[in-house]
Amino acid sequence: MLNVALPKGRLGEKVYGMFEKAGFECPSIREENRKLIFENPAAGVRYFWVKPSDVAIYVERGAADIGVAGKDILLEYAPDVYELMDLDIGKCRMCVAAKKDFRDDPRRTLRVATKFSNIAQDYYASLGRDIDIIHLNGSIEIAPILGLSDVIVDIVETGTTLKENDLAVVETIVPISARLIANKSGYEFKKAAIARVLEGLSRQAEEKK
Ligand code: PRP
Repeated sequence: MLNVALPKGRLGEKVYGMFEKAGFECPSIREENRKLIFENPAAGVRYFWVKPSDVAIYVERGAADIGVAGKDILLEYAPDVYELMDLDIGKCRMCVAAKKDFRDDPRRTLRVATKFSNIAQDYYASLGRDIDIIHLNGSIEIAPILGLSDVIVDIVETGTTLKENDLAVVETIVPISARLIANKSGYEFKKAAIARVLEGLSRQAEEKK
């Protein structure tokens, strides 16, 4: 049985559709209910819906053999997993953003509000810029508006959240997309099934081009 951690939500539903086309169907997953685990022994697959930011933990610890996680989570937490494929979906970018009239004063420590403390630390360390990290768990955009921080490091997808809060992108740090990841020992044990997943997903990526 191949154990697959899917990110709960729209992205996960899209990913399930791709797995289904690759031959790992599990019809019960489409039923409206609050169940979190679905399996189809005939297709040799079991799916779990987990919080998107937790997928890498399930995979790293072997509770799931494979899963789909955003590159943002992989960069932030650096889980010890194999990154097998860029699925070319769930695309967005990690950015520095600030109030439109923000001007950086390099003599002052820059206050950075973010959910992605490691990504922010690494980015500013590479610039040699002195910063103070303010770790928040959501609604990061409020921080510069209330004067809690000078800038934010956050995900920008459509740009609507920034726009509606009178903020603007200062710099793009890195493009983000969804990645197929695998547990390192699970990969050795379930190579054949994982190869079928990879083949099916790559075929769909090719068809999309
Ligand atoms: C993310 C991100 C931004 C928003 C960007 O928030 O933190 O707030 O999406 O999307 P946009 O560019 O399309 O407007 P999320 O919905 O994950 O909620 P959060 O406040 O918990 O971070």
